[in-house]
Amino acid sequence: MLKGRHFILGITGGIAAYKSVTLLRLLVKAGAEVQVVITPSGKEFITPVTLSALSGKPVICDFFTANTGEWHSHVDLGLWADAMIVAPATACTIAKMANGVADNMLVTTYLSAKAPVFVAPAMDLDMMAHPSTTANIERLRSYGNIIIEPASGELASHLIGKGRMEEPDNIVKVLEEYFTAKKAVDNSPLNGKRVLITAGPTYERIDPVRFIGNFSTGKMGYALADEAAARGAEVTLVSGPVSIEPKRPEVKVVKVESARQMLEACEEVFDSTDVAIMCAAVADYAPAAPKEQKIKREHQEVPVIELVKNPDIAATLGHRKREGQMVVGFALETDNEVANANEKLIRKNLDMIVLNSMRDPGAGFGTDTNTVTIITPDCDSVSYPSKPKSEVAADILDNVVSLMERRLT
Ligand code: C5P
Repeated sequence: MLKGRHFILGITGGIAAYKSVTLLRLLVKAGAEVQVVITPSGKEFITPVTLSALSGKPVICDFFTANTGEWHSHVDLGLWADAMIVAPATACTIAKMANGVADNMLVTTYLSAKAPVFVAPAMDLDMMAHPSTTANIERLRSYGNIIIEPASGELASHLIGKGRMEEPDNIVKVLEEYFTAKKAVDNSPLNGKRVLITAGPTYERIDPVRFIGNFSTGKMGYALADEAAARGAEVTLVSGPVSIEPKRPEVKVVKVESARQMLEACEEVFDSTDVAIMCAAVADYAPAAPKEQKIKREHQEVPVIELVKNPDIAATLGHRKREGQMVVGFALETDNEVANANEKLIRKNLDMIVLNSMRDPGAGFGTDTNTVTIITPDCDSVSYPSKPKSEVAADILDNVVSLMERRLT
């Protein structure tokens, strides 16, 4: 998995620098090309001669080569790499990386790197526990960097403090797993596809403090968004008011309140969408004339709220879709489930409908599990047992992919 890949190995001035020699050797043995970039204090711990002998390339430390004046391009290096690994990463280098202090070649290269960056912290226990270090590591995580630390169970069994650099063979394992997963994403039929998902309830205002809504928590739609993003899709999640967030930072969330706003947000992106999955529990009716002021309890007859029908977002998109686009709907039924779901599939011009039965205690609003039957017009329906919503999301997307593939052949 690592054969032929290009790695930048960044070495900083920590006592664990001796372990990077083993890491370098393992990477080279796995067939990778490695360019070592070392900080000035890294050279105090390990000699560049050893590193260049093992990597077969001169080690880069300075912006310029001393004798020839040749400039080392951190930009080219950043583009060349499939990954950058900073191991060991001292508290100082982590702080510089977190704050963009590009006063050496390693941090400068880091800032230019387009590839994923893996960071293996190594420092003493107190430095690692300092809120400054913890905050800087969290910042690196928020930039999408992958922090490699020994598993806590292993730490306990070795009675070794937090801050010890992960063992080189485990770092190699993390890299292998990363590139295996990346390959699966690259080969996924949803990779690069644009997926629109609606989720959560809608709130229809009665007055500034009251609304008509429902108990949807958005869990199913958010699980679908995360799963589609994990498969490389570009996901837009149009979400009604919920208290959860997607796990994957790549998911683009558009927050809306009412059904009309949800329709508008969907219409804005639908034309460039490949697959739309309508998972929201859209309120069917909205107050015809929401009040500007709070409806008072005093001196009032019991109010009557006149309702108007909300737009059907799934049906609107279903009838607007062009060839090659796919619209998937959900149906929550209490009786004549399959017949009702089928009727909806046809009426809304959908390509697939996911039926959740209200009869099942492990299905529906607020639960972490769901029990679904997936119906497509051109093939038999498939019923699944109760599963966590993340797995149901995977089943739904597997069906979307197989429908895409059936249509291509
Ligand atoms: O007609 P019913 O509400 O049972 O249909 C459910 C499906 O239609 C779901 O996919 C839901 O997200 C979608 N829907 C919608 N807009 C509505 C009502 C339902 O998109 N106004």
